[in-house]
Amino acid sequence: MNPKVAIVTGSNQGLGFALVEGLCKSSGPNSSVYLTARNAARGEEAVRQLRERGLSPMFHLLDVTDDASVAALAETIRTRHGGVDIVISNAAARISPDIPQAEQVKLFVNTNNHGTYRIIRAFGALLRDNVRFIVVASSFGSLRNLPPSLHEGFDVSTRSLEDIEELMDKYVALVEAGQAKDHQWPEWINVPSKIAQVASIKIMARQMRDEASRRGILINAVCPGLVDTEASRPWFKDMSAAQSPAQAAVDVVWLATLPAGTDTPYGELVRHREVVPWM
Ligand SMILES: NC(=O)c1ccc[n+]([C@@H]2O[C@H](COP(=O)([O-])OP(=O)(O)OC[C@H]3O[C@@H](n4cnc5c(N)ncnc54)[C@H](OP(=O)(O)O)[C@@H]3O)[C@@H](O)[C@H]2O)c1
Repeated sequence: MNPKVAIVTGSNQGLGFALVEGLCKSSGPNSSVYLTARNAARGEEAVRQLRERGLSPMFHLLDVTDDASVAALAETIRTRHGGVDIVISNAAARISPDIPQAEQVKLFVNTNNHGTYRIIRAFGALLRDNVRFIVVASSFGSLRNLPPSLHEGFDVSTRSLEDIEELMDKYVALVEAGQAKDHQWPEWINVPSKIAQVASIKIMARQMRDEASRRGILINAVCPGLVDTEASRPWFKDMSAAQSPAQAAVDVVWLATLPAGTDTPYGELVRHREVVPWM
């Protein structure tokens, strides 16, 4: 098994932590799997827990809302390894049902959407042949969850990554002004945010299609299904059907470790190894 270089954003807890654990187990002894966290103490504690389980993740600070922090991780990967084999953009800001969404939307979009964009941009030049580039989104990220009047903004056959960034800034301004509903946006800010994440991955896949096919690169979004974490618990009354993070990680790690020579799925939202339709 060839040693791999893998990074998972937002991996000191929840699904990200389980993804690092799964990648450490599946990527072979000489691999470098980076557990990243925005808080050094929380990140180092997570690394300690995995070391107790006999695993050897590397640690790097990473705040996806901070350009310099993202650039610093990319520079470390470049100088230490020259490139990356697995990127999982998983970090997400939590939102609370008890706080008006207008007060939470800016940080939420900055972390989940602009953070994903920063990772795409910073790691674009470091992608090795056969890289698996994944954004953890959700089944909410299907365009059919938006009314048709809003579809044009997410036309992944013509829009650029920057168009999606701009659209999400406009969306933030509407939510903050209490006008999102007037423009037919859904109530819950998670839905437009996940659609934008999936749109970005589809646009990245479209823009890189020829190179990706030549170099064996796979670019996808993934829905882990309902996972029992601190982030999901406040939103769902009944968590009895939720998976543990370790259970949910299995299918995401599968997607992240598809062997060289695999050419599908590509540019898709994937849930439990099946493609979720965009429309
Ligand atoms: N849980 C579910 O049911 C579910 C379902 C569908 C999709 N998802 C997606 O799965 C992913 C993981 O969710 P989760 O449930 O595991 O959430 P979580 O337990 O809240 O974990 C989120 C992780 O992101 C980190 N993070 C937050 N802001 C960050 C920033 N600015 N820079 C870097 N890291 C940051 C958090 O760090 P701190 O510890 O410092 O806060 C934490 O490690 C998310 O993309 C989520 O949308 C989850």
